[in-house]
Amino acid sequence: MSRVAYVNGRYIAHSAATVSVEDRGFQFADGVYEVVAIDRGHFVDELPHLDRWDRSLAALRLQPAMPRNALRQIMREMLRRNRVREGILYMQLTRGAARRDAPFPRRSQPTLVMTCRRQSLPGPVQVEAGVAVLSVPEIRWQRCDVKSVALLPNVLAKQRAREQGAYEAWFTRQSDGVVTEGGSTNAFIVTGDGALVTHPATNAILGGITRDRVISLAKAAGMTVHERPFTLDEAKAAREAFMTSTTTGVYPIVRIDDATVANGKPGSVALDLNARYRIHSAAGATLG
Ligand SMILES: Cc1ncc(COP(=O)(O)O)c(C=O)c1O
Repeated sequence: MSRVAYVNGRYIAHSAATVSVEDRGFQFADGVYEVVAIDRGHFVDELPHLDRWDRSLAALRLQPAMPRNALRQIMREMLRRNRVREGILYMQLTRGAARRDAPFPRRSQPTLVMTCRRQSLPGPVQVEAGVAVLSVPEIRWQRCDVKSVALLPNVLAKQRAREQGAYEAWFTRQSDGVVTEGGSTNAFIVTGDGALVTHPATNAILGGITRDRVISLAKAAGMTVHERPFTLDEAKAAREAFMTSTTTGVYPIVRIDDATVANGKPGSVALDLNARYRIHSAAGATLG
């Protein structure tokens, strides 16, 4: 069965879906996006994702294309038409097509696009192996809390990581050595006394929906969580490290640059949180 995309009110074959060459998303990265996971045919943490979508729209002074309920109906229709039970829904809204000029156009129709595809969280073999991360200089702007489609630093960082045999890049501030987050994931470490540490949800990071969920799952399990900055050196000497995101869930990190994390195997806290997140994703999914 072929994939279906949504473009401004129409459901079309994915391969035939297009937007204008004058679209401001294409020319200026003047748009926002969301990625929502689908587990057993339901959206995972749908409402927090839609709340963040609204915050991103407001930050760019973009009007919502439609009321939330109408948007949710399209999301469900995309699920149905693509017959995805396990995967991701991508949605993007830009300021639309207009004669190329940086200030907002007086009149333009926003471009709303959705795509949907099958994709699984990393499986048991991958999770039990863990992955490597590569530190890269933090060169991004000061509104990393906005889920904007301007992702060039992330693209370059992740490409560099892949070229060095690492799965993810960790943005690290040159001034103080603080790890803000990954190219498309949030960064966590576990200290010697078993506490979780992750950068606070300031404008220096994208406040991940998975990050928030993992923090609340950890707290509910009686763990201590500190939302405070940590440095690359602290991470290299940590008991454990892991990343979180919609597409990775909780993914253990076993190497940071040339340093092996602990004994080079995923830690028990990361594995435990991975399992808790999977249960949440499967069971809690229907609540969204
Ligand atoms: C820069 C960045 N940080 C963190 C995340 C993780 O966010 P979430 O858990 O909402 O997927 C993403 C997701 O794409 C991201 O791009």
